[in-house]
Amino acid sequence: MERIATAEKIRLVDLGAQYQAIHKEIWSAMRNVVENSAFVLGKHVKDFEGDFAAFCNARFAIGVASGTDALTLSLKALGIGPGDEVITAPNSAFPTAEAITLTGAKVVFADINPDTFNIDPAEVEKKITKKTKAIMPVHLYGLPAQMDELEELCRTHDLKLVEDAAQAHGAEYKGRRVGTIGNVACFSFYPSKNLGAYGDGGAVVTNDEAIADKARMLRNHGRHEKYCHEIEGCNSRLDALQAAILSVKLKYLDEWNKKRRQHARYYDELLSSVENVITPTIPAKMKSVHHVYVIRVRDRDNLRKKLKEDNIDTGIHYPIPLHLQPALAYMGLESGSFPRAEEATSTILSLPLYPEMSKEQVERVADAVKQHAK
Ligand SMILES: Cc1ncc(COP(=O)(O)O)c(C=O)c1O
Repeated sequence: MERIATAEKIRLVDLGAQYQAIHKEIWSAMRNVVENSAFVLGKHVKDFEGDFAAFCNARFAIGVASGTDALTLSLKALGIGPGDEVITAPNSAFPTAEAITLTGAKVVFADINPDTFNIDPAEVEKKITKKTKAIMPVHLYGLPAQMDELEELCRTHDLKLVEDAAQAHGAEYKGRRVGTIGNVACFSFYPSKNLGAYGDGGAVVTNDEAIADKARMLRNHGRHEKYCHEIEGCNSRLDALQAAILSVKLKYLDEWNKKRRQHARYYDELLSSVENVITPTIPAKMKSVHHVYVIRVRDRDNLRKKLKEDNIDTGIHYPIPLHLQPALAYMGLESGSFPRAEEATSTILSLPLYPEMSKEQVERVADAVKQHAK
């Protein structure tokens, strides 16, 4: 018989709680855009781009329409297209792979490090061919990938390094913020991201002036001047209302990331000695921004069901590895092709984590996990 939950619901993410804390500033920023009629590019987008570049300690940030476009336009800005191969991880959000195929290039997957869930540089090396043009690690769940080893592979094989930093705004690798380690980095401002808009948005971040210039042209119909189109691009401009909202939120991002870290550490403390539960591994010299807090548990589906009965939301990031997605069936990659990513898929569970969570909520989730994990 299904139990009737009486306790208050704990959501995976609670965007309403964040909005309550900043709603006056948000409406004032939005009013500003509307009253200035500055809807497309212009001051608000420019200001946000400057602030976000500074946040990443990078020279340039180019606001685009989504994280997917940030990836596609970055690859195109690097000259990647038909006939080229790009190596990435099979345990990411679908757009990671989709962005590669949108350029006309071929996606090549490499299996992951089972401890961190991030792409394994040793597996990447095995996949390098004459056609490989770039490696695209994903800083999954807010944890940086093994950038030293990947940089070394890029140096040796003359490849580009493209960071999928969609989940990792503010994460650090050996004291450097992600976004400036590769040739170019791509961020998403999807509403539930650590820095989320009130709609879609994304950014290309780089220290390379030529890449920045190309990305800026590509997102705006391939032009510098209004009616002179130097190349074929697209319309992928970051919306000015979203830019104004993001500028407000950016001021709080370090504080919000700090709170996420505190909650994650508290989960670690409460769950690390629980039998059958594996808490996240954060290698030394890496600072995760805990976009999601992912545990591993053998009887995952049962635990998920029990937590739902206790009115606790959970997630699975992601339930189908990319090589087994129907849309990529043409690649002919069967079950068993990437055993570590597939094993992760069947055991991972994302627990509620957002800055505004209370200590008591973290404790309630941890208690429920302790009670039900098998
Ligand atoms: C790792 C990763 N890459 C790319 C994307 C695509 O970003 P967007 O949804 O903004 O297009 C996302 C977000 O869904 C993501 O999590």
